[in-house]
Amino acid sequence: MESTHHGAHAEHGARSAATEHEHEHGHDHPEEDWNDEEYVAYWLERQTGRAEERRRHFMMFRALITKMPEDEFSYINLGAGPGYLDEVLLEQFPGAQCTLVDGSLPMLVEARKRLERFGERVEYVQANLATPDWAGAVTGPFDFAVSSIAIHNLRDPRRIRDLYAETFRLTGHGGMFLNLDYVRPARPSLAPLGPWVAKDHEAGLRRGGGHDMPGTLIEQLGWLSEAGFSTVDVVWKNMNTVLLCGLRDHLHMPEGEGGHAAEGAHGHSH
Ligand SMILES: C[S@@+](CC[C@H](N)C(=O)[O-])C[C@H]1O[C@@H](n2cnc3c(N)ncnc32)[C@H](O)[C@@H]1O
Repeated sequence: MESTHHGAHAEHGARSAATEHEHEHGHDHPEEDWNDEEYVAYWLERQTGRAEERRRHFMMFRALITKMPEDEFSYINLGAGPGYLDEVLLEQFPGAQCTLVDGSLPMLVEARKRLERFGERVEYVQANLATPDWAGAVTGPFDFAVSSIAIHNLRDPRRIRDLYAETFRLTGHGGMFLNLDYVRPARPSLAPLGPWVAKDHEAGLRRGGGHDMPGTLIEQLGWLSEAGFSTVDVVWKNMNTVLLCGLRDHLHMPEGEGGHAAEGAHGHSH
């Protein structure tokens, strides 16, 4: 599928939290444009300095995938970027097939390099998540949908709500959506807390995202419910960075892994 230029955020000059952070420190950097090779190279370089934090995020996704390593299943990654998360998941789950969706050609080139060894287990789809057409470019249903620090880029709350519904429709029975992203602080008056908590490094609290994020946590949970996910929850939160979980119906646990113990949980039937 042809990618469409992500004019929306480029034109509005919206900045990612990372970029904002850089601003605070007074460095020069190319303007955020995921289609620009120079910006993508700059972004990739910055990730090395955040490797520990990012790895921890990816480990959380890995821990939350309710599959045994040998199980066969499929997942889709929305705004997959260079495939860091996919490298972790494809290694842990040799039976997993994944579909990477991203609008940025330079990012997909990076992902192909990183994931080359997984061969046919990976499908790369260049598509713009800012319009509903992307859903026609992928073949579901998927057992899991994942996304990491990507969907806030769409900026428009209505579009994000619709994207959640499109994602819901692409998940199969027992499907789970895991979305790590920045949310807007519950109230603008909480803004000073970000720089304040950062002074105490040992606490590990870190503000992610700016104050122009598309929805608060409560709004985001509402959008997931409206999209059709029957159970929605926050499985992790650090200031404004949250990992949201949406279940299509029930939690499907691998055989013998406590599926029967929890209310509404079902042992998996594959
Ligand atoms: C901050 S990067 C995160 C990449 C990756 N998920 C990760 O966690 O390392 C945001 C990603 O979202 C993608 N993206 C932004 N807007 C998009 C859009 N409208 N359609 C598709 N992808 C988009 C960018 O190209 C980029 O790869």
